[in-house]
Amino acid sequence: KNVLLLCGGGSSEHEVSLRSVKYYEDCMAQMPNVNTIKIEIDKQGQWVDAKGKRYLLDGKRYLRAFEQDGAPGTLIDVAIPCIHGSPGETGDLQSYFEMIGLAYFGCNSETSKMCFNKITTKMWATALGVANTPYIFVSENNEESAKKVEEFQKTHGDIVIKASNQGSSVGCYMIEAGKDTRKALNDAFALSPFVLIEKRMRPRELEVSAYEYDGKLQISYPGEIVTPSSTFYTYEEKYSSASESKTFIRAENVTPEQVKTITDYATKLYHGLKIRHLSRIDFFLDDGKIYLNEINTFPGSTSISMFPKMLEANGHSFVSYLEQHIASL
Ligand code: DAL
Ligand code: MG
Repeated sequence: KNVLLLCGGGSSEHEVSLRSVKYYEDCMAQMPNVNTIKIEIDKQGQWVDAKGKRYLLDGKRYLRAFEQDGAPGTLIDVAIPCIHGSPGETGDLQSYFEMIGLAYFGCNSETSKMCFNKITTKMWATALGVANTPYIFVSENNEESAKKVEEFQKTHGDIVIKASNQGSSVGCYMIEAGKDTRKALNDAFALSPFVLIEKRMRPRELEVSAYEYDGKLQISYPGEIVTPSSTFYTYEEKYSSASESKTFIRAENVTPEQVKTITDYATKLYHGLKIRHLSRIDFFLDDGKIYLNEINTFPGSTSISMFPKMLEANGHSFVSYLEQHIASL
């Protein structure tokens, strides 16, 4: 099969995607029936190969040179959008694949968009009976919204202001009780059309890989990210080599009830939101209770990323996992 492996993208997570895609390439190199064609979407939206040659994917599923050279191009059988944030996790690429009838790995366009937007994720979680941290959202950057945020801050103390559609902690601002919220609100609106405001917890961060293997939903045992208490798991903290955060593929000191709640929540979210093939679902554990943090529909697979590691620790080989999905598409 000709498999189009897309990476990069226009978001702040472009570089993370370039690291994630290496893992996919290595795995796909072990599959005898897969011909991998890797294309990077640069920050301006151009599709380029390793030599910088530009391509386009036409409506008949042919990947063709952008500058017409008379060649028919390559008929693509399956696409893998290994992109975090826009235009992969936002569902935009998937909309195009759906329009031209190209099979692809991962969630459909609608699920991607709903899970990527931090506000719709919360609405869905509430509707599905999955506990959430207290929140409000605002749609306009005006005085009325600023007042609403200040009221919320008075009730809850420390808060987090988040752009609704960013990943890897970009556009997240921690505001201590009583501190000014307006700059953060402006900055968040500069990145997204809607802004989420959450009560800040200082919880433990637990996450699971939720994916399909042999046609069955699998939820891994929770892993944990431990960040030094003074910091927040920021973009730099996530990806810099000086990171002081530690990851545990198997969280310690979690009760069987807490694991059961996480598994039940992840199952409800997976089915309720029609997640497909892969996801990493992140939770908070605060004062003994579990809350949803977020859903990643194309989780990272960099050397520090948990999705492939938790999948493997759950007894599955990532190569066979990916191979069976490519074969089924
Ligand atoms: N958004 C990053 C890539 C992750 O969740 O793994
Ligand atoms: Mg994320």
